[in-house]
Amino acid sequence: MMMQQDMQQILFTQEQVAARVREMAAQISQDYAGKTPLVVGILRGSFIFMADLVRAMEVPLTLDFMVASSYGAGTVSSGKVKISLDLQEDIAGRDVLLVEDILDTGNTLSKLVAELKSRRPASLKLCVLLDKPERRTKPIEADYVGFTIPDAFVVGCGLDYNQLYRQLPYIGILKPSVYEHP
Ligand code: PRP
Repeated sequence: MMMQQDMQQILFTQEQVAARVREMAAQISQDYAGKTPLVVGILRGSFIFMADLVRAMEVPLTLDFMVASSYGAGTVSSGKVKISLDLQEDIAGRDVLLVEDILDTGNTLSKLVAELKSRRPASLKLCVLLDKPERRTKPIEADYVGFTIPDAFVVGCGLDYNQLYRQLPYIGILKPSVYEHP
């Protein structure tokens, strides 16, 4: 598989990711039975996970996106969050499900959650494919977590390094040589 030589380890295979996403979608569908959630993806990282998740969901739903980023060009979060494209929908009174690829320091999501809560949704829940609790600096937890992972630099399923590797259908740990000697 393309770019597999840059991986130190495959953490979760395509099949494992697909199976877990289906389980999450089943749980979420149960929890939102009778409702029509507004599923909000944070671009760019969430796009693959969100596409897989909503296709396995069994309740009616609407979609919207925000563009936000915090990392800049490296592997360490800069601590600043920039919303460069806001939602198109009014979320007041909606059951909002925020979807992200990874909850890491919590910097991005704690700021986005605070911002979205100020718009008075009926409910707001957070769904992430990956959770890296060791690195958390903000008191935030996700309502739905695909996999809890150690503090390693992971790519694939939407997650990038310098904008590359997002297309990988598995979650891999990048070889340090890739980012130590770019
Ligand atoms: C990544 C990821 C989360 C955030 C998580 O986004 O998608 O938004 O970092 O890190 P945190 O918990 O430490 O805030 P990134 O800024 O790399 O943008 P991207 O979605 O375009 O990949």
